[in-house]
Amino acid sequence: MAIREIDPSSDAEISLVAERMLDTLIEVEGPERGIGIHSLPWLKERVQWHLDPSQSQGQVFVATATDGHIVGHSLLRIEGRASDPFGLVATTYIIPSARRSGWAGQFLERAHGWFREQGVNRSCTWTSGTNTALISLYRKFGYDMVDHGPHGSTGTPMVKLGRYIDDQQGAP
Ligand SMILES: CC(C)(COP(=O)(O)OP(=O)(O)OC[C@H]1O[C@@H](n2cnc3c(N)ncnc32)[C@H](O)[C@@H]1OP(=O)(O)O)[C@@H](O)C(=O)NCCC(=O)NCCS
Repeated sequence: MAIREIDPSSDAEISLVAERMLDTLIEVEGPERGIGIHSLPWLKERVQWHLDPSQSQGQVFVATATDGHIVGHSLLRIEGRASDPFGLVATTYIIPSARRSGWAGQFLERAHGWFREQGVNRSCTWTSGTNTALISLYRKFGYDMVDHGPHGSTGTPMVKLGRYIDDQQGAP
């Protein structure tokens, strides 16, 4: 199994990641709320937006099984002021049958590497305050809760987890 950049010319890979982003919303927000937050076309555009340097400074990584099947993905981007940028892990998803095998942790290490390459030393993510699996993952990797509040279009109580990548003194 391996982690690689998504193929930006592959409509099939981009569509698959968009479908799995919808699966994430349904899993985290519940089926009734999750299905209505973003449409599949919007999610597909969102993946493409992360891959278009004229629109964002982003990247999409995928994890592949030995047969090439994609078992997970992670979307990253750089945000903030040019003088004070930070890396954002926008979302990560692992298919249920591949969970608890260290994939999300490997994605996080890959994110740190990519943020470093972009000259950025802070990493953060937002998730639902009830997403105990993701919060445990980030805690395991030294993240602190640095903010909270309603976020985005969901209205769900959200938490922001953050850390410095190479200097872990204090929360960013
Ligand atoms: C959260 C998620 C990405 C974790 O993926 P994963 O590959 O199973 O995670 P890993 O195997 O790398 O786990 C690393 C650590 O995360 C934590 N963790 C992962 N799943 C957990 C769970 N179900 N309960 C508690 N802790 C969990 C543990 O600390 C774990 O370390 P351990 O195995 O030594 O105990 C996966 O469960 C998922 O895709 N969930 C649905 C999508 C989602 O919530 N995405 C985030 C949206 S913002």
